[in-house]
Amino acid sequence: MTTIGIIGAGNIGSAFSRILARNGIAATIANSRGPETLDNLAQELAPHITAGTIKAAAKAEIVLIAVPWSKLPLALAGLPNWNGRIVIDANNPIEAPLFKPANLNGRLSTEIVAGLVPGARVVKAFNHLLAALLTKDPHAEGGSRVLFYSGDDETAKAEVAALIEKLGFAGVDLGPISIGGRLAQFPGGPLPANNFVKFA
Ligand SMILES: NC(=O)c1ccc[n+]([C@@H]2O[C@H](COP(=O)([O-])OP(=O)(O)OC[C@H]3O[C@@H](n4cnc5c(N)ncnc54)[C@H](OP(=O)(O)O)[C@@H]3O)[C@@H](O)[C@H]2O)c1
Repeated sequence: MTTIGIIGAGNIGSAFSRILARNGIAATIANSRGPETLDNLAQELAPHITAGTIKAAAKAEIVLIAVPWSKLPLALAGLPNWNGRIVIDANNPIEAPLFKPANLNGRLSTEIVAGLVPGARVVKAFNHLLAALLTKDPHAEGGSRVLFYSGDDETAKAEVAALIEKLGFAGVDLGPISIGGRLAQFPGGPLPANNFVKFA
């Protein structure tokens, strides 16, 4: 079975871990303060979710990263080579408490994240809904809640698409990062924060 790691255990990291756990999928989750500070979450989501170090989470075949924008370089520094493992970029270039958009110098936020995980196959996903909505039952309004994803590696994208479907969401492929990354970027893109539902 594909191994899953989660770097960042706040709103989005813990929401993702809850979604995995309720679908019986295992993962290792990490934060900056160490696994022992995640005891409550690990107990709540046992036996599926285990707290680990960032290095342990980063070893997984699929690693979702959800860390405040300014903390990403530190969180991802010094990790072993990514060797083609899949990184899901759930991050947005804006953060509390000021919610001032970061200066990206004309680049897409996912391009910047990709630069921090050299050798990884990056798929942008799980970034465009608030954590509280993401955690809700994806079977909504008589359909399935849409999760957009984009990426430049078709195989990696297919793996993330399969995970999205397994979790009960309707995945919608937005194409390469140059297109999908722009459409799903928050702030700036037209898609984030909209609650789309797909009907069969
Ligand atoms: N909140 C949302 O609804 C939402 C929705 C979509 C996307 N996002 C994006 O998701 C990302 C995370 O947002 P969030 O709201 O989940 O943040 P959050 O609640 O503030 O949680 C941040 C997490 O990142 C960890 N972290 C901080 N510095 C770290 C480091 N140097 N190494 C490892 N882990 C570190 C924190 O660990 P410690 O607590 O131990 O420091 C914490 O677990 C952001 O990029 C945000 O834009 C958020």
